[in-house]
Amino acid sequence: MNELTEEGFGREVASGEDGLVRGSEAAIAVRPTRFRSAGEVEDLETVFELDDISVSYAGVPAVKNVSLDVFRNEVTALIGPSGCGKSTLIRCLNRMNDLVPTAEVTGRLLYRGEDLYGPRVDPVQVRKLIGMVFQKPNPFPKSIYDNVAFGPRILRMKGDLDEIVENALRSAALWDEAKDRLDGNAFGMSGGQQQRLCIARCIAVEPDVILMDEPCSALDPISTARIEDLMMELKRDFSIVIVTHNMQQAARVSDRTALLMVELDATEQNRWGRIVEHDSTERIFTNPSDPRTEDYVSGKVG
Ligand SMILES: Nc1ncnc2c1ncn2[C@@H]1O[C@H](COP(=O)(O)OP(=O)(O)OP(=O)(O)O)[C@@H](O)[C@H]1O
Ligand SMILES: [Mg+2]
Repeated sequence: MNELTEEGFGREVASGEDGLVRGSEAAIAVRPTRFRSAGEVEDLETVFELDDISVSYAGVPAVKNVSLDVFRNEVTALIGPSGCGKSTLIRCLNRMNDLVPTAEVTGRLLYRGEDLYGPRVDPVQVRKLIGMVFQKPNPFPKSIYDNVAFGPRILRMKGDLDEIVENALRSAALWDEAKDRLDGNAFGMSGGQQQRLCIARCIAVEPDVILMDEPCSALDPISTARIEDLMMELKRDFSIVIVTHNMQQAARVSDRTALLMVELDATEQNRWGRIVEHDSTERIFTNPSDPRTEDYVSGKVG
């Protein structure tokens, strides 16, 4: 399932609407939050507030009791061993789990102060404001131009489409490589270029948040470095949540890191993911407060 399918943007949304509720006149709330890290108090703008979020599939828990805040203009990394629920958790942030019929999300998830799972929330608006980039680049079988223009066309965004496409490709550090082949099929690009194209496609609809689930795991080191550089650029305009298995990547690109680990019940039959520690990336990697974090980030377990 990808983020810009016809289902995702299958309805017209007037441009200029900012809130989650279609037609809402309320501007997005800007609510500074105080977050304590390593003894310091910073003023930060909260994008997501997760309060006791649990997810189960067909009644079987996958993630339990996640409470954490995600802040604006930061990169937040979700790390942890395979199966601990990183993808499950990141998919809660733009309601991608809605597309899994057996998935059930409980708890409270506020996006800029609004209940993301509230009854009046429009999933089309959600996926416009909170875009997603996947592990495997998934361009549409269309031209480079049409891939980037896809969302703006469906959303009937105001403005010159050529300009929107160019700006999105520039923001995704792909313009120089793409400008002479805009009519060429996206499948003719390298994997790293395709992934930047998917990022451009995501940016073109002017999202607020970009979610990335292992965006570099199918890429070579040079393409990975380009995407990492790009993330550092993009966080000036967007907030980013990234799932990564690569500890060095989390340490390099993220401001804050949450480590999830698998927990077993007494029978050792049932397992689910739970947050072990969530703090500034510097602290997680240099002076974590939970011994399990130190073991995981130093490669002793996991
Ligand atoms: N669509 C689904 N239906 C049923 N169970 C699922 C589904 N997606 C995930 N799960 C289960 O939820 C748990 C967490 O899976 P998830 O994919 O979120 O882990 P992950 O941390 O992203 O793992 P990986 O690092 O391997 O990608 C696993 O036990 C998995 O089997
Ligand atoms: Mg995953």
